[in-house]
Amino acid sequence: MPTETVYGLAARIDSEEGLRRIFSVKQRPFFDPLIVHVASIEDAKALVSEWNPRAEVLAQSFWPGPLTLVLPKNEKVSSLITSGLMTVGLRCPAHPLAQELIRKAGVPLAAPSANRFGRTSPTRADHVRQEFQNQVFVLEGGESEVGIESTIVMIEEATLKLLRPGHLSIEKISSALREAGLSFTWAQASGKTEAPGQMKHHYMPAKPLIVSKQALAEATLLNEIKARLSELPTEVDGVRLEKPSVIQKVIRLTLPEDPVLAARALYQSLREAASGAGDVIVLDWPESRRKGDWVAVWDRLRKAASLDL
Ligand code: TXA
Ligand code: MG
Repeated sequence: MPTETVYGLAARIDSEEGLRRIFSVKQRPFFDPLIVHVASIEDAKALVSEWNPRAEVLAQSFWPGPLTLVLPKNEKVSSLITSGLMTVGLRCPAHPLAQELIRKAGVPLAAPSANRFGRTSPTRADHVRQEFQNQVFVLEGGESEVGIESTIVMIEEATLKLLRPGHLSIEKISSALREAGLSFTWAQASGKTEAPGQMKHHYMPAKPLIVSKQALAEATLLNEIKARLSELPTEVDGVRLEKPSVIQKVIRLTLPEDPVLAARALYQSLREAASGAGDVIVLDWPESRRKGDWVAVWDRLRKAASLDL
């Protein structure tokens, strides 16, 4: 299923068989919960035990769009979807085909990003076909406009927790709540139970990605990488990585200068780089692009990278 963020691997939430296939096709561990995609705010309300006024304001302000709200679930959401958690992630996607698919199914659709566990997310139908060959049907919906996954916010009364940064920033979320006259505070998510999918590594391309704070000349760069080759992991969080035995050639990755455009191009660029001629992918990425408007793109790059020079 195309969405404006990334393509999703979707199943009806009332089909246990479909839900189980998501985990098997994706090779995703059962401890990592799925996001439920709805066509309207009404649909979302039907899946929670409590619809908080802050959820109402955020849904009214940013749905359909790249925002996932984590709220207390009710009995209509199976524990297979939530990995046994008492909360559910809800998102109303803006892509017209996603909207149409959910409406035609007549039931919300659970969907993680349509990539194998730990790997680069898909922003084009072709990415999904390459990843899963004939295992799944692919709905052609063009290129995902946002390019990185939704912002995930957990809401507990007046406390908000950012579980994953995205295109929609904390500042925009805060100002929508302020304009509505609602009090709120941001708190840190605590560990694996609240943010089960936030593994250290994720989004990894087929060849190791190395990020570098300074732009190094080719020769210096090669020496530096060779010296630190042993630091490249062969496996992270159960995801196997190809580790080159010799480094002869680096593939240079570049991204647009603007954070919105960089997000849109990110996953396609990582895939292109991984299929290029060379042993490792190198991206020059200064400190100035690791904060502010760049937090969401940096979050993905940091997790996709095997080494930070
Ligand atoms: O933009 C997106 O959100 C895309 C498109 C397809 O909608 N979906 C997506 O799904 O990125 P996925 O499964 O790749 O990432 C969802 C993240 C996971 O890290 C999962 O752990 C977290 O959301 N999540 C889901 N339900 C949760 C819950 N109840 N509590 C905490 N985290 C949750
Ligand atoms: Mg994902």
